[in-house]
Amino acid sequence: MDIETLVSKLSLKEKALLFSGKNNWETYEITRMNIPSFFLSDGPHGLRKQEGKADHLGLNASRKSTCFPTAATIANSWDETLAQKIGKAIGEEAISQDVDVVLGPGLNIKRDPRGGRNFEYFSEDPYLSGKMAASYIKGIQATGTIACPKHFAANSQETRRMASDSEVDLRSLLEIYLTGFEIAVKESHPKAIMTAYNKINGVYANENAFLLREILKQKWGFEGFVVSDWGGSNDHVLGVQNGSHLEMPSTGAAGANEIIQAVQSGELSEQILDERLSELLTVLLKKKTSKETLSSNQESEHHQLAKEAALKSAVLLKNEEAILPLQRGTKVALIGEFAQQPRYQGAGSSLVNPTRLESTVEAIKDYPLEVVGFEPGYATKTASAEATLQKKAIELAKQADIVLLYLGLDESSESEGMDRTQFSLPSNQLELVSALKQVNPNLIGILSGGSSFDLSFDRDLKAVLTGYLSGQAGASALLDLLTGVASPSGKLNETYPIRLEDTALSDHFPANGKAATYFESLFVGYRYYQTAGVPVKYPFGFGLSYSKFNYSDVKIGDNGVSFCLTNIGNFDAEEISQLYVSTRSTRNFRPKRELKAFVKTFLKKGESKIIMLPFDAYTFRYFDTETNQFEIEANRYQIEIGSSSEEIKLSATIEREGTTPEGKKQVEKYPHYFSGQIKQVSLSEFETLLGREVTKREENLARRKLFENDTIGEMQFAKSVLARLAYHILDYKKRRSEKKGKPNLNVLFIYNMPFRAIYKMTGGQIDREMVMGILMIVNGSFWKGIRFTLKARRHNKKISKKILEED
Ligand code: BGC
Repeated sequence: MDIETLVSKLSLKEKALLFSGKNNWETYEITRMNIPSFFLSDGPHGLRKQEGKADHLGLNASRKSTCFPTAATIANSWDETLAQKIGKAIGEEAISQDVDVVLGPGLNIKRDPRGGRNFEYFSEDPYLSGKMAASYIKGIQATGTIACPKHFAANSQETRRMASDSEVDLRSLLEIYLTGFEIAVKESHPKAIMTAYNKINGVYANENAFLLREILKQKWGFEGFVVSDWGGSNDHVLGVQNGSHLEMPSTGAAGANEIIQAVQSGELSEQILDERLSELLTVLLKKKTSKETLSSNQESEHHQLAKEAALKSAVLLKNEEAILPLQRGTKVALIGEFAQQPRYQGAGSSLVNPTRLESTVEAIKDYPLEVVGFEPGYATKTASAEATLQKKAIELAKQADIVLLYLGLDESSESEGMDRTQFSLPSNQLELVSALKQVNPNLIGILSGGSSFDLSFDRDLKAVLTGYLSGQAGASALLDLLTGVASPSGKLNETYPIRLEDTALSDHFPANGKAATYFESLFVGYRYYQTAGVPVKYPFGFGLSYSKFNYSDVKIGDNGVSFCLTNIGNFDAEEISQLYVSTRSTRNFRPKRELKAFVKTFLKKGESKIIMLPFDAYTFRYFDTETNQFEIEANRYQIEIGSSSEEIKLSATIEREGTTPEGKKQVEKYPHYFSGQIKQVSLSEFETLLGREVTKREENLARRKLFENDTIGEMQFAKSVLARLAYHILDYKKRRSEKKGKPNLNVLFIYNMPFRAIYKMTGGQIDREMVMGILMIVNGSFWKGIRFTLKARRHNKKISKKILEED
């Protein structure tokens, strides 16, 4: 039966049910018509299939699966083949665990180093993000499993994540925040996409017709289905109307009832409903459902792949006196708690229960080193014995030629649901570095952390190798690199600024009012530092090797650029070459340079290769707000080939014909966007760019009426004493857990969620009407609110019975 016929045979109630989840992870089945239920599971770097108590914050256990390095790590490999292999492995594990849709990869742009989920995202650059995501998706979908890239779009902070409006000018939205998704959609055809929690320019992502219909469907030709983030559907009917298909998790019968009412009242046409349902079922019913279990052999193959991924993604940042690789038999002291308890993934919905977990303390036994001992040196949770730990580490360091010092961001500083508050490593780790330096100058820092942090302490280290969050097999991968089994070949997917004050958003991140103002426009990451001339610690695209490479013979043609790459060192190794484009214009402001292509090449020592990097649809384009489409400006362009964004090895120029008539000069209108001096952008300069006024921050902290899209945390301003008391209890719990160094994700989630989410996250127990009743109580009408809530509860039960139980 074709899909249209199938849809025409469904009752309105059956159709309506298919637009919401049946529970936390599954869709409804319609047995009568042979429509099965489908299972959706996190996540980006390994499967998190929950079979017991379900939650979307990684709090309860899930089945074991391979924990690959997180996206932030894999992006350092700049290796699309590798990303595709990982995607395929995740897809295979999904099949063996009966999962139909993998909720990932995540490809939001890292706007600031403090973004809580940066570790789950690929890069500060849309081109690199898009290419890596496309490869992942190709891999996942090659197995028949559906990939669901997320979070579409402009979702770059965790604070108030469900109640924040990303105010971003159209050009930056398209060039920075959407280009990665565009590449992924056009190159890998994901069969699903997850919308973000936030609003974009005033409209929730899940009901944003501009994003979902105009861009995703019409411009990019997306043919999959759209799913809300968990609890992220605001107005379900409007969502369906504007291009969303599935709200997750379950809202019981209430979601279906909203659709039924809307169709019956004529608010939503049944024709649109049928269209959406056909789009959804076309994808789901085509999904292959051949169940295979993962053989134990495949389990070790995936572990090996996790190791390969960690090895190809680690970045060597410093190697003074060529202290690395370590010589056979070197006498080393192993110091740092993370050598024993690895920091290998981040917290939240992406948390994987690994099939195995390597630790350096164990893994090092297989390497030809003389290990004089291990000492944790610091505690990851505040411990009173800190001084003793340090003392023991110092004693151990004295006995060795070289100290392998494992440091990094701790788990509590990187998690979904909260943004980082610190840019530095914990002080106990920094104190340990200074103390060890006094007794042994040969310190080698092996770092973990899913985002950039203050590395000024590396003046005390001879070498620095960062593994980011390197997954379950990270320990042996890094030891392979340290001992020279292979050369490091990763390069940074993001910039490491010198100080937090140097970042474009230093005083503005995260936004804790209703709107996050993206006043920096295009100037994210290296686009900012380089244009504004701000020196950085380690630039985007940077990474050392044990070998050396020579770049020569650049040739430019209309379709691309070629050059010769030679390995002139003493080590077989891989090199990542990057192509940047820049042009000077008085019509359109431009970042100093932008990444437009890259390639990773393996060369044996002494070997040379001619490398060709073709231009593509993204190489010269910019978004023109007057013609409302991407255009090419008639101009002379500089094509640069670099080993990083700052180390340009070759360059050539090329003239391009334009696609748009000569525009007006805009330098006077946007002086600071032309100079890149983002910190000097005035409100009016940004508002001119945005084309409207920004949402003003509510300075008035007085008691006020709260609405369904105000956050629970805003109960501090509530009119009711009870509500304020509830706020204080929540706030106390939040602060207490933060103080303990283990933030309570559940509490944080509740704190930042809007009242509306009570309806969206309680599986139908509480519906929208009941939330209205709760709000009456919060707003000071206690008895009226109680009566209203109770009445709504009775009604909800009746509807539930009618929709879920009656035939
Ligand atoms: C996260 C998503 C995740 C979903 C399901 C949400 O809180 O933002 O990335 O896929 O939960 O766990």
